[in-house]
Amino acid sequence: MRSLRLLPILALVIAGGVSTLAGQSPDRPAAFTADQAAAGRVEVQKNSFGACTNCHTTTLTGRHGDAAELPPLGSLSESDQKLIVGNGGNVPALVGPQFIARWGRRTTKDLNREFQERFAPATGGGLAAETRLDLIADCLQSSGAVPGTQPLTLATDVEIRTLTGGQ
Ligand code: HEC
Repeated sequence: MRSLRLLPILALVIAGGVSTLAGQSPDRPAAFTADQAAAGRVEVQKNSFGACTNCHTTTLTGRHGDAAELPPLGSLSESDQKLIVGNGGNVPALVGPQFIARWGRRTTKDLNREFQERFAPATGGGLAAETRLDLIADCLQSSGAVPGTQPLTLATDVEIRTLTGGQ
């Protein structure tokens, strides 16, 4: 009897595998809401603590010394330019394959910790928790993760690639 009760689960697993094979996107777990991602999008463009898009570019795909990157490096403040040049002209991507390659095997909690530590000096204690979570939701959504009904919280500890797919 025990194995019979497992049958529906088995059927679901097989159905999931088949839909993946058929090229449809597999059902990924959701870890944030669409509202959080939308609020995060507004936040990345804000200037209060240095718009993330200035350095990480308008698409958040980072800088790799390509003259076509926007906004142009030369349009940034002298101190921002200095920081980027000091980093070899590179700014890491916060979305997409390059981001997933670096962060896919780490969790949403790890990313939250990174945001917290990174902005502590510049903002006198770090970004507000809600702001960090919104920023992370936007990065995840822009990297292919789907929003759901449960908000991202400080306790959410999900491996990032299970949300975004990819490596
Ligand atoms: C003045 C330019 C500048 C601004 C503004 C800026 N960043 Fe960065 N950021 C960098 C540089 C350069 C690096 C890579 C060097 C380093 O790790 O410090 C980086 C690294 C990061 C990393 C680590 C990524 C990784 O894979 O290691 C994260 C996350 C990040 N930034 C998020 C943000 C967010 C979110 C914002 C907006 C709130 C922001 N940054 C604003 C320049 C900037």
